[in-house]
Amino acid sequence: MAPSRSMYATLATALLAAVDTVNAQQPGTGTPEVHPKLSTYQCTTGGGCVQQDTSVVLDWNYRWIHTKDSNSCTTNSGINATLCPDEATCAQNCVIEGATYASSGIATSGDSMTMNQYVKGADGSPQNASPRVYLLGPDGNYVLMKLLGQELSFEVDLSTLPCGENGALYLSEMDKTGGRNEYNTGGANYGSGYCDAQCPVQTWTNGTLNTAHSGYCCNEMDILEGNAYANAFTPHPCANGDCDKSGCGFNPYAQGYHNYWGPGQTLDTSKPFTVVTQFITNDGTTTGTLSQINRYYVQNGVKLPAAAPGGDVINANACSSAANYDGLANMGAALGRGMVLTFSIWNDAGGNMNWLDSGSNGPCSSTEGNPTNIIANHPDTKVVFRNIRWGDIGSTGTTSGGGGSTTVTSKTTSKPTSSSTSRVTTTPISTTKVTTTTSSKTTTSTAAGPAQSHWGQCGGNGWTGPKVCASPYTCKVQNDWYAQCL
Ligand SMILES: *[C@@H]1O[C@H](CO)[C@@H](O)[C@H](O)[C@H]1NC(C)=O
Ligand SMILES: *[C@@H]1O[C@H](CO)[C@@H](O)[C@H](O)[C@H]1NC(C)=O
Repeated sequence: MAPSRSMYATLATALLAAVDTVNAQQPGTGTPEVHPKLSTYQCTTGGGCVQQDTSVVLDWNYRWIHTKDSNSCTTNSGINATLCPDEATCAQNCVIEGATYASSGIATSGDSMTMNQYVKGADGSPQNASPRVYLLGPDGNYVLMKLLGQELSFEVDLSTLPCGENGALYLSEMDKTGGRNEYNTGGANYGSGYCDAQCPVQTWTNGTLNTAHSGYCCNEMDILEGNAYANAFTPHPCANGDCDKSGCGFNPYAQGYHNYWGPGQTLDTSKPFTVVTQFITNDGTTTGTLSQINRYYVQNGVKLPAAAPGGDVINANACSSAANYDGLANMGAALGRGMVLTFSIWNDAGGNMNWLDSGSNGPCSSTEGNPTNIIANHPDTKVVFRNIRWGDIGSTGTTSGGGGSTTVTSKTTSKPTSSSTSRVTTTPISTTKVTTTTSSKTTTSTAAGPAQSHWGQCGGNGWTGPKVCASPYTCKVQNDWYAQCL
C-alpha cells in the first residue's frame, strides 16, 4: 500500500558558473553531472558473474532547474508559469543542473552504496535529503533488468532504520532513455522518466513539463521495502492505464510471523544480510508466465529458514486480489520486457509508514514513525545496499548450494503466534562475512557498444559509453562533462 513517494525538489548547492546559451531544457553547465559508480554483477549458470560498468543517477525532481540568469523555474507550489507556460517555452527558458551527490545523501564505493535520509546542513543540523536514484548503464540509459525466470540478490544493512523509515529497492517499468526527446535531451543521464504503480502526478513527466497534470502509471515490483522492524515485497501490476496500488505483498508480520524480522530475531536486522528474490515461470524459461515469486535470506553465510512453513512465496492464489490487473502474469510480462532498478530512502509525514510496520503490519506504534520523531532521534538513519547480482536462477551464488532449493539450514523457526515472546537467542554474532562463493570470472566490461542515438551522451570526463553517434547525428561537446549526439 505504498503511498506516493514524496519528492523534495531541493535546491542543490548550485555553483553558479556562466551558463551557456541553450535552446532546450538541456543540461546546464553550473554543476557537472558526475554519476557515482556502483559496480553490479550479471550472472549466468555457465559463465559465473561478470562485473558491470554501472553507476547511479539522482532523480530529475531533486535538481535545480533554472533560467540562464539563474532564476529558478520551479516554485514552492510547482512551476513558474511565466517561464513555463507550455512544454516548448519551458524547455527554451530552463536548464537542468547536475546533482551534488554527497549533499543529496548518496555515497558509493565499489559495489556498495549508502543512502542517508538526512544530511548535515551548513549549521550542522540535519536536513532532509531522502534521495531516490536509478541504476544507469555505460550507454547513458537505464539498465533494463530482465528478471523473468531469473533471480536478483543483494546485501542490505537496515540496522539504523527505525520505525517509520523505509529503505527501498524496487523495479519500475520506466523508459530506458528516461523519455529523452527534444525538450529533455539529458534523459536518463539526468534521472528523468520516473513512474510507478501509484500513478504519480508530477511536475515533469519524462523530463517534459506536465501541463496536462496527468499521472504516469507503470508496472512496479517492490523487491524490498523495509526497516529494522518490518518489511514487505510486493508486485504492483498495471493494466488498461490503472494499477494495483495496494498490491498483493508478502509481509511476514502481517502473515502472523511476529518473531521473524527484527533485531535479534530469526533474521537479525541489527546485522547485514542478503536478500534473494526469484521470479519463477510456469515452464522454467525466461519467456514463460510468471507463476511464483520466491524469497529467501542469507545471513552470516547461512540460508535462513523461511518465515512461513511453506516458504516465503507469492503465487497466483496469493495474488487473486490483483485479478483485474491479470496479477502475476502482467507483472511477469513487465519483468520480461525489462524494468529499471530504483533505490530510495524515505519516510512518510502523511501516514507515518503505518502500512508497512504498525498495527497488523508490524510491531511499531502508530506514531513513532512520524518524521519529526525520526529527525529528532535518528538523524543518522541510512540504508546500505551492496553486491547487487542478477541472472539465472541459482547463478548469483548466494548459497553454496545455489538458488531455489528447499534445503534450509535449521534454525529457530518463528511461530505464527502473535503473543509468543519465545525467541530463542542463538549464538551471537559471528563476524563471518556473507561472502559469496561464486567462482566468478570478474571482468570489467568495456562496453563500447553500438553508436549513440539522437540526444544521447557521447563524451565528457569519465564517460565510458559510446563515443560515436548514429547517422546523421554528430557528437557536440556541451561542457567538460557532457557531449551529446545532436
Ligand atoms: C517567475 O519568473 C519571472 C521571470 O524570471 C520572475 O520575474 C518572477 O518573479 C517569477 N515568479 C515567481 C513566483 O517566482
Ligand atoms: C515517456 O517516454 C516514453 C518513450 O518515449 C514513452 O513511451 C512514454 O509513453 C512516455 N510517457 C509519458 C507519460 O509521456
